[in-house]
Amino acid sequence: MCGIVGYTGRRQALDVLLKGLYTLEYRGYDSAGVAVQTPQGLRVVKTQGRMKTLDEKVHALGGLEGSCGIGHTRWATHGAPSDVNAHPHVSADGRFALVHNGIIENYLELREELQRDGFVFQSETDTETVVHLFQKLYCGDMVKTLTQVVARLRGGFALGVISSEKPGELVCVRRDNPLIVGFGEGENMIASDIPAILPVTRRYVVPGDEEIVHVTPQGVEFYSLSGERLTHTPQTVDWDVSSAEKGGYDHFMLKEIFEQPRAVRDTVSSRIRGGLPALEEYGLSDEMLRGVRNIHIVACGSALHAGLVGKAAIEKLARIPVLAQVASEFRYSDPIIGEGDLCIVISQSGETADTLAALREAKKRGARTLAICNVVSSSAAREADSVLYTWAGPEIAVATTKAYSAQLAALYLIAVRAALARGTMDEQTARRYCDDISSLPDKIETLLKTREQMSELARLYSDREDTFFLGRGVDYAAAQEASLKLKEISYVHSEAYAGGELKHGTISLIEEGTLVAALACDPALYEKIISNIKSVKARGASVVLVTNGNYEADGEMCDHVVHLPQCLPELSASLSIIPLQLFAYYIGVYRGCDIDKPRNLAKSVTVE
Ligand code: F6R
Repeated sequence: MCGIVGYTGRRQALDVLLKGLYTLEYRGYDSAGVAVQTPQGLRVVKTQGRMKTLDEKVHALGGLEGSCGIGHTRWATHGAPSDVNAHPHVSADGRFALVHNGIIENYLELREELQRDGFVFQSETDTETVVHLFQKLYCGDMVKTLTQVVARLRGGFALGVISSEKPGELVCVRRDNPLIVGFGEGENMIASDIPAILPVTRRYVVPGDEEIVHVTPQGVEFYSLSGERLTHTPQTVDWDVSSAEKGGYDHFMLKEIFEQPRAVRDTVSSRIRGGLPALEEYGLSDEMLRGVRNIHIVACGSALHAGLVGKAAIEKLARIPVLAQVASEFRYSDPIIGEGDLCIVISQSGETADTLAALREAKKRGARTLAICNVVSSSAAREADSVLYTWAGPEIAVATTKAYSAQLAALYLIAVRAALARGTMDEQTARRYCDDISSLPDKIETLLKTREQMSELARLYSDREDTFFLGRGVDYAAAQEASLKLKEISYVHSEAYAGGELKHGTISLIEEGTLVAALACDPALYEKIISNIKSVKARGASVVLVTNGNYEADGEMCDHVVHLPQCLPELSASLSIIPLQLFAYYIGVYRGCDIDKPRNLAKSVTVE
């Protein structure tokens, strides 16, 4: 939700800021802006619309000269997308410019207080209160002022501030929101995410919550709120800048779909040792797994869908009761969780506000917590008792693909290890599962060859306005993810249904030409799902069957078949989703949608 960037050094700040903002656009893209310390004072250019609009606008104005500045790309929360609500916001006296990611929960009371003091507000944003407050509390020292400001704010945020009076100085702070500081040579940066700093440096620090960071070209200082100087050792980004570029693909989403064999391989390979899952270093010792009472999987969106597949695998193989819950519901549900329970939070970004709140709730109630996340050093990774990283690499497209696949792989490993630890699976069977998990990357590779078939199916059906995805068991969990993929990037209404549930009402929506994608990947349930499919076919639906069974398109049961390689039934969601991701992608392409940046969405949801 919103990307922020800041630069101070020897280059023209504008170039670095724009480049950085382009890489952060996935975080929000309804407006964008920059502020630079120029010889004429602070100058701000901002606009509603995408980064390209800002780029054109600022260059049409002749650019901005100066070597220190901040920038922002917005996902609107308070106030509609507009030029005036775009960041940076500027204090009433014009001396300070500020960018913000997150939500200031007490902004209304601050706004009233500042209005009583005579401040006149230009925008509807919560952010503008902070920049006026900064002016009000300004004591001549940027660090001390920001410390005072933070003490007055409720909510989670990341803030970056510059002043016309402090050339080359930039201050920033984060509370429960992502922010990194990049360390260059004679130049330093701040940003919401790593790709934004890569043109300048690969060395970075994630400051702790509420640390005030003072950045100049010469160095970076960290202070606690009580003014104590803190030290951090920079980490080095170990992936290449090309991982955050499209590399010849039309869209990041397509590139990331094609990266799935590698993402799954990297997530799995170092965790299978001697043919068995080795998870002790992630806090998942056999002793712990033996003693665990219940597992709660908590996540949002696709990460929750991965959790549903994980629930099915863990319950079936390890016989541990698993509850998979929506994080935003879990946190306010007075959850029955405590000592002896394991809470697994799943999050690509590790910054999703509801997931983090759920993690804290579970911890507070005495449960052990494990984060499965993709972004190294993200909040979830830091706050959970242990972390199992998915090594999917940076995921840029808003719709997740490779991180989801990597999450599934991580969950299978947990299921098999827990089953071994609890004696519900013998070693030989566990080895068979591990072999099958290790072979998933090659099978996914094979499935990427369905690209043309899925593109052709998408061409045939891109005009349909309603789609149903049907499945039973794990196939139903996979159907939910397939349905979300389709709706989020193509804006086609779609629903996932448990095959047996359809006849309890929803079948009334099936009519001539309704598109139904049915998944049949568990031989034990083939017959059941086939009879569900026949009942929609009989009512005129056009049916695409995704299966590892020996079925052919006969026009009576289904119109098209997408064949999958064989695997153990608990793992099949890793395969069935691949053609359906491609299908959603091509439907979006045929409908002319903005694939990597679907409307109203953002990659990282750091607000409730
Ligand atoms: C859908 C999608 C979202 C995320 C959800 C959680 O394609 O990407 O549904 O899965 O917003 O995000 P993370 O995993 O970052 O917590």
